[in-house]
Amino acid sequence: MLTTLAIANYRSLCDLVLPLGQLNIITGANGSGKSSVYRALRLLAETAQGRIITALAHEGGLPSTLWAGPTHRTKPNGPVRLQLGFASDTLGYLIHLGMPNRDPAAGSAFLLDPEIKHESIWAGPFLRRASQLIDRSNAVVKAKQGKSWNVLASHLAGFDSMLTQLANPHNAPEMLQLREQVRSWRFYDHFRTDADAPARRPQIGTLTTCISDDGHDLAAALQTIIEIGDAEGVADAVDDAFPGATLEIDTRDGRFEVQMRQPGLLRPLNVTELSDGTLRYLLLIAALYSPRPAELLVLNEPETSLHPDLLPALGRLIRKAAAHSQVIVVSHANRLIATLREHEDSQEFCLEKAFGQTQVMGLRELDRPAWHWDI
Ligand SMILES: Nc1ncnc2c1ncn2[C@@H]1O[C@H](COP(=O)(O)OP(=O)(O)O)[C@@H](O)[C@H]1O
Ligand SMILES: [Mg+2]
Repeated sequence: MLTTLAIANYRSLCDLVLPLGQLNIITGANGSGKSSVYRALRLLAETAQGRIITALAHEGGLPSTLWAGPTHRTKPNGPVRLQLGFASDTLGYLIHLGMPNRDPAAGSAFLLDPEIKHESIWAGPFLRRASQLIDRSNAVVKAKQGKSWNVLASHLAGFDSMLTQLANPHNAPEMLQLREQVRSWRFYDHFRTDADAPARRPQIGTLTTCISDDGHDLAAALQTIIEIGDAEGVADAVDDAFPGATLEIDTRDGRFEVQMRQPGLLRPLNVTELSDGTLRYLLLIAALYSPRPAELLVLNEPETSLHPDLLPALGRLIRKAAAHSQVIVVSHANRLIATLREHEDSQEFCLEKAFGQTQVMGLRELDRPAWHWDI
């Protein structure tokens, strides 16, 4: 489980350190920085897949994503870095990104590509010299072995994370463990439900323990839960949201299609006939009832295009998922938040902006977990 999430110099998140629990709700007014928290987590996940530099480029590049206010620096007069990190029950990780020190006269077209300047892995709640296990400074990566440091690489490219290049079971087992942990995080952000949405197309189904993030395998994912997962839970979740309705998956000729029986109708409606809200709800059910629950599940505004009356049921669905996965929900739907709050281990972070900088309302200095970006 993640215990701390730390972000510095990323958009309006100049300096944010959050203590995380089992079910975390991130709320706040428009523009307070909610989506930025979601994106920062996604960037961390992209790092473990080797895609952080491309992901940053898609966001407009480092100059645009760096906090535009007076910067938070690790060292006085030190360079400005975009910094992301987390600590979990076992291991912690952080990464610093900055602009390269390349000579513009060299004439490369990639002078604006950011570089990974620093990465670190440690055991315990925050980075400390005594508990540091792996350290990357620019191109050099070292792993602690007893009391000395063993060099794992001395020419790591600025665009490569050590997580993708050096994680292996022999001399960097913690790195491998951490990378696999991060790769298992799941993100769901606005499933498409328009007329051409992947979820509305017929598909050839195969056993699907985890619905894809575009939802094209909805029918196979639901059928998988019905066969090897919590079929009763799914039936109850459908009934909770749409009283009296039942799901059927038509699997003739290997083509899978979702159908829904509703009270008062003589035939089931097929997936092309379902409303956007109903389809989105079914996608969320499939995601949250995965027979292989994610260690960490991150949901960005799951309320989008749902009727307000569905929100309490959605809240109950998310609360159930929190029994198997750590969950982070970004939302500004009050009825959803009210239901989520009833979870025994839920915590809420209400973001607000002061002088352009995101802050957590009411988070006292004492509640802020200890965190060091450097040692
Ligand atoms: N580089 C930057 N520096 C400072 N603030 C930024 C930067 N980029 C975007 N912002 C601001 O950060 C906020 C980000 O909001 P966002 O996370 O999308 O909010 P929400 O999802 O809560 O509506 C916006 O108010 C935007 O003006
Ligand atoms: Mg947003």
